[in-house]
Amino acid sequence: MSSGKLRTGIFVATMTGLADICGEEIESALRQAGVACERQLMDGLGLDAFEPYDLLVIVSSTYGHGEIPDNGQSLFAELEAGGQLDGKRYAVFALGDRTYSDTFCAAGDRWDNAMATCGAQRLVNTERHDASSGTLAEDVAGEWAAGWATQAL
Ligand SMILES: Cc1cc2nc3c(=O)[nH]c(=O)nc-3n(C[C@H](O)[C@H](O)[C@H](O)COP(=O)(O)O)c2cc1C
Repeated sequence: MSSGKLRTGIFVATMTGLADICGEEIESALRQAGVACERQLMDGLGLDAFEPYDLLVIVSSTYGHGEIPDNGQSLFAELEAGGQLDGKRYAVFALGDRTYSDTFCAAGDRWDNAMATCGAQRLVNTERHDASSGTLAEDVAGEWAAGWATQAL
């Protein structure tokens, strides 16, 4: 049941912590499916943090006008400056609010584009949670991960 070899890293960019709760649910759903994973906040991380992993799961909210949360900005800048992610796969869970109609989940889209530009292969489509939808972000996150977890193995 356990993949044994697949190494999954969950990386969280958040301002007020909801994305980290979503990250916990994603971690739990993946573990239940037999995918070993580790979760960390992006604070202080450089691109070398991605190296040990085959599958990179980005969980990011959006702030300002479509900006990446402060704790993810330096990692994102390194990625954009020319990260090499050939051979890795990735998935993005984006948190946002449709009230911000022009920039809804824009940070998630920026991660998605940057990961692909650096050569990583998208495992599943980016999931976008809308804070004004009435659904709980952490529930949506857990269901999303459970939906593709076995595909990751
Ligand atoms: C000041 C502020 C700016 C925001 N800007 C955006 C935005 O541009 N686009 C968007 O989709 N959501 C925006 N949001 C909504 C947050 O992304 C959303 O509430 C998210 O669930 C917060 O997650 P976090 O606690 O992990 O940071 C904004 C929220 C605040 C408070």
